[in-house]
Amino acid sequence: MKLFLDTANVEHVAEVAAWGVLDGVTTNPTLVAKEGKDGSQSSPQTFKETVLKMCALVPCVSAQVTAADTEGMQKQAIEYSKWHKHVVVKVPMTIEGLKTLKFCSQKGIKTNTTLVFSLPQAILAAKAGASIISPFVGRIDDIGENGMELIGQIMEAWAHYKFSTEVLVASVRHPDHVIEAARLGAHISTIPYEVFKKLPLHPLTDTGIKRFMDDWEKVKKS
Ligand code: G3P
Repeated sequence: MKLFLDTANVEHVAEVAAWGVLDGVTTNPTLVAKEGKDGSQSSPQTFKETVLKMCALVPCVSAQVTAADTEGMQKQAIEYSKWHKHVVVKVPMTIEGLKTLKFCSQKGIKTNTTLVFSLPQAILAAKAGASIISPFVGRIDDIGENGMELIGQIMEAWAHYKFSTEVLVASVRHPDHVIEAARLGAHISTIPYEVFKKLPLHPLTDTGIKRFMDDWEKVKKS
């Protein structure tokens, strides 16, 4: 499973990319707006500058269109795709978005369909040629339903057909979402920084290291 960071913070991307396990980044307008406002990023920068810095660190960076109409989305898609070969154009799951996905697939522009909340939406996006679809599991959990059930439905359907579209589990809230995504065979999880930092941790690893170090102190070295 590929692991992405769900952030617009370049410093966080650089930190996790240095671990050697980061496959990409997803940004969205909310995440971009957050940076610079809470002092989390040292220098404010344009969206394009942020995306380009991330493209230098990872091979796949989702940049979301903000137009609501097909023509505007397609114009932004062309513009973003020229920024860097690592850019993946993020398009919302609307009818205008579907038209844009088809347009992009015909032009060889990579896409990520955002705001997917149902299996029919997932199938439509795949048929329109999306490179990636992003079902939002946490937001489904937030309304009292089970987001991972949707991932199960999508992976079950994907097993029947030859969709090349990758399934990216988005709106991840905790490590259990990542565990379930892997068990269901999802292709990608995009993970917030605070959740990503929990993934290497286990209390038995800590106590195990302490015991090894304590015992090593007892060994005659020379
Ligand atoms: O990147 C899109 C998605 O992961 C947003 O998550 O936490 O705003 O529901 P969230």
